Amino acid sequence: MTERAETQGVRLQKVMADAGVGSRRHCEELIGEGRVTVNGKKVFRFGERVDPQSDVIHVDGRRVETRAEMRYYLINKPRGVVSTMADERGRKSLADYVEVPERLFHVGRLDTDTEGLILLTNDGELAHRLMHPSYGVAKTYLAEIHGPIPRDLGRTLKRGVELEDGMAKADRFRIFDQVGRRVLVEITLHEGRKHIVRRLLKEVGFPVQQLARVEFGPIKLGLLRPGNMRALTVKEIGELYKAVGL
Ligand code: URA
Repeated sequence: MTERAETQGVRLQKVMADAGVGSRRHCEELIGEGRVTVNGKKVFRFGERVDPQSDVIHVDGRRVETRAEMRYYLINKPRGVVSTMADERGRKSLADYVEVPERLFHVGRLDTDTEGLILLTNDGELAHRLMHPSYGVAKTYLAEIHGPIPRDLGRTLKRGVELEDGMAKADRFRIFDQVGRRVLVEITLHEGRKHIVRRLLKEVGFPVQQLARVEFGPIKLGLLRPGNMRALTVKEIGELYKAVGL
């Protein structure tokens, strides 16, 4: 930023506006209020020129993705669909639901029987960190089980349960809804071993009837219907970066 001639690069407020932060006017206000940094340095001047491909811009400490080719989506994978971009056995895969031309990869997997939130991106570094156990990104699931359940089930799960490949424990647990013996529980874990939620609940005597992932780190599925996808907002992308220290 500092060594660039006055006429090189693109004006900061235009780069921010193009990245979806808001109107140029709004971006100028953010700059004027001292809420914007470029490569870690606070910028107050509207005319500052930056390179959207290499300069790193933060607003209120959240990174703004300015590289034009980067794409970030979430999809609500329907039950019965495999979590890959193609399936050699001809089963339905994520590719059947992706409506954009870019090559994307999925951030982790869900069981074919599980529905819910999968992130799709072409940002390899972010995807790698989101999947890596050392960053411990939390994932939240809704699981349907048959009640009644003991009062201390949450405590048991949070204390940890021994599975064949080691301990597993919930970070959070609560009853989300209950109709007769059908109990919907919300459970959050910060790990991604295969079938982990199903194995954990089965081990404590409550095999899962239905499973859906509703949150991945700071990203929430919300009311997106199975089979639909949407682009992440600038704010969501910034929060994902923050979750993995980027
Ligand atoms: N845990 C499971 O058991 N299945 C999933 O698909 C995801 C987490």
